[in-house]
Amino acid sequence: MQNFENFLLKNLPISKSIHPTYEEALHKMLIAGGKRFRPALLLGVVKSYNSLMLDSAMHAAFAVELLHTYSLIHDDLPAMDNSPLRRGKPTLHMEYDEVTAILVGDALNTYSFEVLANSPFSDYTRVQLIRELSSNGGLNGMVLGQAIDCYFENKPLRVKDIKTLHTNKTAKLIAASLKMGAIIIGREELGEKLYDFGIKLGLIFQIQDDILDVTKSSQEAGKLTNNDEDKNSFVTILGLDESINQANILADELLAELELFDEALKNELSPLLSKYINRHK
Ligand code: IPE
Ligand code: IPE
Ligand code: MG
Ligand code: MG
Ligand code: MG
Repeated sequence: MQNFENFLLKNLPISKSIHPTYEEALHKMLIAGGKRFRPALLLGVVKSYNSLMLDSAMHAAFAVELLHTYSLIHDDLPAMDNSPLRRGKPTLHMEYDEVTAILVGDALNTYSFEVLANSPFSDYTRVQLIRELSSNGGLNGMVLGQAIDCYFENKPLRVKDIKTLHTNKTAKLIAASLKMGAIIIGREELGEKLYDFGIKLGLIFQIQDDILDVTKSSQEAGKLTNNDEDKNSFVTILGLDESINQANILADELLAELELFDEALKNELSPLLSKYINRHK
């Protein structure tokens, strides 16, 4: 992923204005790092089938990371999860102010689509990529998930509804990342299969995140933990042991499904999945 980090540094959003801290704030959370899980999934799909397209695919991987980073900045706002720490750094509303955090989030959100609109693909591919990222990251995807998450604080949901919440707030963007890889290499049918696979992967990813909220310190996680008490998380509804049990069952199911993909894709995704779907162990 070194290439991705280099690409990101070369393509940071630029704003030459009289504002003394706006540009620095735009960059802060992007360069703070993070797992880069979604870009790695997208690039992994492209690498398995056509490594010559990896350089172009960086644009799409970057767009996904921009949208994801915006979602984290807004997620941490006082009106949402009210968190002072993200990616091991003070959140933007702590470091600057709330207005800056809101506006940087807005800017990274729209910039992600500017990056896709300018990406080096055919018009057809660019429209498909924009459609995929907007429909999964927007009003019927991540944003809907966040709306449900915040509305139902202190109002316990059924497990079925928590799955819907997690699917929207987290899994759809992860599924879209895999599918965008397939769009870039022109394999629509594979894209549909990867999308379904990604929804399950994303559900596990969020259940694990819920588990880590109670098992990791803020310092280890690089973000505020023990912060989900009022939330509908797997742990608050099912308890820690049953959440770990469910995560293990789902992880085994997912690894079995991975076997159905082509050898090259399996080899590419397998280390990524082993690393990130066993995070709770
Ligand atoms: C955090 O995502 C938000 C969730 C969807 C759980 P990541 O765990 O991928 O955060 P970074 O990108 O590594 O900071
Ligand atoms: C947030 O879920 C998912 C997003 C869409 C950003 P969380 O609120 O659990 O994510 P963390 O734990 O703050 O990273
Ligand atoms: Mg949240
Ligand atoms: Mg949060
Ligand atoms: Mg969390």
